[in-house]
Amino acid sequence: MPIPISKPYIGEEEKKAVLEVLDSGFLAQGKNTALFEKEFATYIGVPEAVATSSGTSALFVALKALGIGPNDEVITTPFTFVATASTIIQCGALPRFCDIDPRTFNIAPESLERLLKTGKNIKAILIVHLYGLPCPMDDILSLSRQYDIPVVEDCAQAHGALFQGKKVGSFGTLSAFSFYPTKNMTTGEGGMILTAEKDLSEKCRMLINHGSKKKYYHEFLGYNFRMTDLAAAIGRVQLTRLDANNFQRQENARFYTEQLSTHPSVMTPYVPEYATPVFHQYTLKIEKNRDGLSRYLEEKGVGYGIYYPVPLHKQGYIRRLVGDVDCPATDDCSLKVLSIPVHPLLKREELEEIASLITSFIGEEVH
Ligand SMILES: Cc1ncc(COP(=O)(O)O)c(C=O)c1O
Repeated sequence: MPIPISKPYIGEEEKKAVLEVLDSGFLAQGKNTALFEKEFATYIGVPEAVATSSGTSALFVALKALGIGPNDEVITTPFTFVATASTIIQCGALPRFCDIDPRTFNIAPESLERLLKTGKNIKAILIVHLYGLPCPMDDILSLSRQYDIPVVEDCAQAHGALFQGKKVGSFGTLSAFSFYPTKNMTTGEGGMILTAEKDLSEKCRMLINHGSKKKYYHEFLGYNFRMTDLAAAIGRVQLTRLDANNFQRQENARFYTEQLSTHPSVMTPYVPEYATPVFHQYTLKIEKNRDGLSRYLEEKGVGYGIYYPVPLHKQGYIRRLVGDVDCPATDDCSLKVLSIPVHPLLKREELEEIASLITSFIGEEVH
């Protein structure tokens, strides 16, 4: 049986919760969404939450709520899913790409500082806790204060991850989560915006509701980015499983690291002292013949992922917009990263099989 790179767990409780919503007849937004917002906000430790139709709409609305628009620039990482930058562009603004730390794959504070020094119209810093590993929030927040530029956190891959014991999503002026099926928890499609500021959450709620507070009265241009109660009902159950599933991901990661970290040509995930990651992905850096190893895993029926093969500053329409951008660490990582299955449904034998396939391939490469 092939081993998939990700596998959502949907149990009887999720099915029951969805059936209850179907039976209630209230299929759009209702009490489940309101409860999911409260429960998720409490879990992360932030007072205000607005549920959305996707992580992408959550990011877009968070940026809009900050007033990001034409002629503005937003600093972000090029080593992420396209939505991180496409939402900046959808606002009419320009992404300014900041190189990453090649050990953590997250935005490098030194490169961030360089961009902040030279930028003229920078209105926000959009960071991504990639693969479930928190960014160095101390350095980022201190730069944010120094330059008086707000931070938005893209937490699409980091539900429950901790920076110095505090959940990511509680550091930025706003944060955005995704509940896509491959994520650490899912609602099918869905997202969430969190903020401590009531006025920002009200603005977000209006933005996802056609710019209206009161039905059929529209104060500004808005959208329909609401979460449905069907999705929220799934999310409420998934949230109760999140900590146990994250723990299993951490255990799976520990096993791989024990098995693979002695190979000089393989870099296992680096975990800085400040971080408790949730391993949305377990990502190796393969110094030699990454593509050979991925083909080998595919032949053996092991799913893998390359996140991301083309950094965002090199993607067609984005490159045309931003021109040549110098992010050497990102370029190098995109050629070497390889993510292997780490999801909580993996069996011990599967973990052992994957580790031993990698060990034998790498061993042969070296000799
Ligand atoms: C880092 C990152 N940002 C944004 C998104 C967008 O989320 P969604 O697919 O829910 O729109 C994703 C996931 O797909 C992601 O991984």
